[in-house]
Amino acid sequence: MLEAPENVRSSIRETVSRFIGCKADEVILTHNTTHGIALSLGSINFLPKGSKEVDLILLTNLEHDTVDYCIERIEKKFNVKHLILNLSSNSSTKDIAKDIVSISKERNVKVVILSHVTYNTGQILDVANIIAEVKKELKNKSPLFLIDGAQAVGHIPVNVSALDCDFYAADAHKWLMGPPGSGFLYVKESYLEEHKEYFDFYENYMVAEKYRPRSKSGREREPATMNVGIYVGMKCAIEVILDAQKEMPRLSMYERIKAISEQFRRQVEEKLKPYGARLINHNSTSGIVSLAFIEQQNVEFYNEMREALDKKFRIIGRVLWDPPAIRFCISYLNSEWEANFAVEAMKSFLEEKMPSACKKISEIQELNLLQEKIKKKIEETFAYAKDIVSERQKLAVTRFSKFEDIEESKKMYEQTIKDLDYKKDEYLKKAKSLKSEIDLQELEKEMKEEINKILYGE
Ligand SMILES: Cc1ncc(COP(=O)(O)O)c(C=O)c1O
Repeated sequence: MLEAPENVRSSIRETVSRFIGCKADEVILTHNTTHGIALSLGSINFLPKGSKEVDLILLTNLEHDTVDYCIERIEKKFNVKHLILNLSSNSSTKDIAKDIVSISKERNVKVVILSHVTYNTGQILDVANIIAEVKKELKNKSPLFLIDGAQAVGHIPVNVSALDCDFYAADAHKWLMGPPGSGFLYVKESYLEEHKEYFDFYENYMVAEKYRPRSKSGREREPATMNVGIYVGMKCAIEVILDAQKEMPRLSMYERIKAISEQFRRQVEEKLKPYGARLINHNSTSGIVSLAFIEQQNVEFYNEMREALDKKFRIIGRVLWDPPAIRFCISYLNSEWEANFAVEAMKSFLEEKMPSACKKISEIQELNLLQEKIKKKIEETFAYAKDIVSERQKLAVTRFSKFEDIEESKKMYEQTIKDLDYKKDEYLKKAKSLKSEIDLQELEKEMKEEINKILYGE
């Protein structure tokens, strides 16, 4: 027998709540993250147009474009402006919290929007501690916190109650690998209670209210009728992860993602650096790995690469526009082998796309190897010469009995070591201009002669 859609919807909300650590009534089923962000912003009691004061929305420079569009619409409707907090890969939790506090003390900050994991640099923001620090300073004057969890759920452990945020918007079609067009929004119970009337996106409920008093449940902020099918898909996607977690606790899933991503980053640095590859954020500890190529500033190049990786190797990357780059997401289902395979696939694309550049690169690699060899030879030759000097010095100390003789020999010894070091530096500098094995042979001959002069005066 088919279950009543209402019961199905309740069980979906219950599964989501178990997954993100909240009450089922705090969950609103949405189409995607954007929908959740729009619902949250739309529920805030911003100052009306024409007011003397202005409300502020604070967001970081690393938020997804979709947030900008939502804010643009809010700015058209209300007396609202936005301010961008610039984050770098070195921004600490304390610095971020301090900035939010100091801006909030000066201006009327209504809401702060933060990504839990940034979509481009893959930074994991310590949202729990940022919120805790801000609330500690501002107490009940704290702004609301809207967290964009699009790149976090199914990727890192998420417990919205522990974060103590007011809203948490996410979707199922990214890291959860669920159906496109399914997502959820968490809204803190106390906020839902106080702001019942502000979730006014679904007009049908404004009408229905005449007949049915509104409850505080998230259900009342959803459309009357929904395509329950896709949400069943979302529930299944979450259950797959919840089941996997039983075997591999949540933190271990993330640890696995972290380990594979680290391996991927290392391989990129090792194998693609000669092609000009640069990690967008090599400090990242998330499964988001974004990279750009120094000489490739054009999005077209990355589009071509993405297409080739998809068609030839079934590897799905994503193109970032600003700055142009390609991004990969490593899931707990991926393996280190696949990470290595993706690097080899990129290498093969680069060799095909830029044969002349690759030829140049292999020449550069050869030259680098030769210079390493020369450097090693110089170090070894001079280390050997220094050993001879120190042996001679030991002998001299045992042979001389007079204090002046010992002092004299010590001075000579120190001078010889200085001369050798000076010569060694000269050769190391010279090594940079050498280009072939013949150059190395000549250098070896010359070094021996110079060392003999220093050691034996020949
Ligand atoms: C951080 C972040 N927020 C929001 C979105 C928009 O997601 P959705 O398509 O679920 O609205 C994306 C999409 O990639 C994202 O990465």
